[in-house]
Amino acid sequence: MSDDVILSAEGLVKHFGSGGGLRGKRRVVQAVDGVTLSVRRGETFAIVGESGCGKSTLARLLMRLLTPTAGAIRFDGRDVTDATGRDLEALRRDMQFIFQDPFSSLNPRMTVGKLVGEPLEVHAPELSRAERRDRVAALLRQVGLRAEHAGRYPHEFSGGQRQRIGIARALACGPKVIIGDEPVSALDVSVQAQVINLLGDLSRDLGLTLVIIAHDLGVIRHMSDRVAVMYLGRIVETGTADAVFSDPRHPYTQALLASIPSPEARLSGRKAMVLGEMPSPSAPPPGCRFHTRCPHAQAVCRTDAPPLSARPEADHAVACHFHDSLAAEARPAAATAQSEAAQARFALYRAATEGGAVTHLHPENQET
Ligand SMILES: Nc1ncnc2c1ncn2[C@@H]1O[C@H](COP(=O)(O)OP(=O)(O)O)[C@@H](O)[C@H]1O
Ligand code: SF4
Ligand SMILES: [Mg+2]
Repeated sequence: MSDDVILSAEGLVKHFGSGGGLRGKRRVVQAVDGVTLSVRRGETFAIVGESGCGKSTLARLLMRLLTPTAGAIRFDGRDVTDATGRDLEALRRDMQFIFQDPFSSLNPRMTVGKLVGEPLEVHAPELSRAERRDRVAALLRQVGLRAEHAGRYPHEFSGGQRQRIGIARALACGPKVIIGDEPVSALDVSVQAQVINLLGDLSRDLGLTLVIIAHDLGVIRHMSDRVAVMYLGRIVETGTADAVFSDPRHPYTQALLASIPSPEARLSGRKAMVLGEMPSPSAPPPGCRFHTRCPHAQAVCRTDAPPLSARPEADHAVACHFHDSLAAEARPAAATAQSEAAQARFALYRAATEGGAVTHLHPENQET
């Protein structure tokens, strides 16, 4: 394995048993079922897929907040699959989490200063109170807030500002990797762009590695270096953002790209996904798990699971028996849908971020 890989998973599995159900029958939720991936130092790696496909479970496994049923996790050259005690503590410092809902993840009774300073108390107890206060002030400025915000409580802030507080807290101990589980899903679309730009700036300025989870490709389209598309606990397509977005080969990726809503639809809250229901991860279809929704399914798809096979061009792999023959007919539609939607999104992002310093000092911050 190349040594620029900071975080990797090999055959990762997480099955949740639901105990004895009716008539003692045990249902097993195959939340993550054989995920292999590697995240390179300094890159932004995106994991996308519909709600329920196993993204949060995968994130929690990578953070070792959950113990895998099978498979291995390596972080910064060490096998951390069974890490405990001090090793786990070090991992908790080096890998930080940003939650989807900054409101429920921030203790409402703690001031912002306490919230951002708390990780320092745990992981850097050698700092004096004054040093900690200075560090908190610097962190708040780094995420586009002000030092005097330290004395206020989470409810006094807008959603975007609260997510900035969450990011400052995640940055406090100088992590190597930040994992964001749908970090902007709960935010207004213009604020989403601000927070995404902030994350992009931070990863560039601090050399951070970001793992960003999203159910919406539109959100990560402009920030990711590499992408993994998940379906029912498995990766169906992965590669550079260029490869996956401009030459999607899996019918599911193509459908996700074609369904990216336009900015207008996003603002009105309309959803464009047209695939129908995802099967339950406690009874995934045999063969290719996507066959019940795939417009290109053949007999073999119902019996044989397609392996994640590397494509001839660099850094692109697809789990579909027909990724070569299907691409030609399916791609133009997906590519067109993508380019139109992408142009509109670019315009929206530009408008939302016009004026250079806006990521650090945006109108939201002026409210308070
Ligand atoms: N602790 C748990 N116990 C049982 N089932 C779970 C648990 N956590 C998640 N699941 C199930 O695993 C599947 C994947 O969930 P999750 O990882 O949260 O998906 P996503 O983040 O993509 O929406 C879902 O069917 C969910 O209900
Ligand atoms: S393997 Fe078959 S069912 Fe699965 S995505 Fe490819 S064509 Fe569709
Ligand atoms: Mg989730």
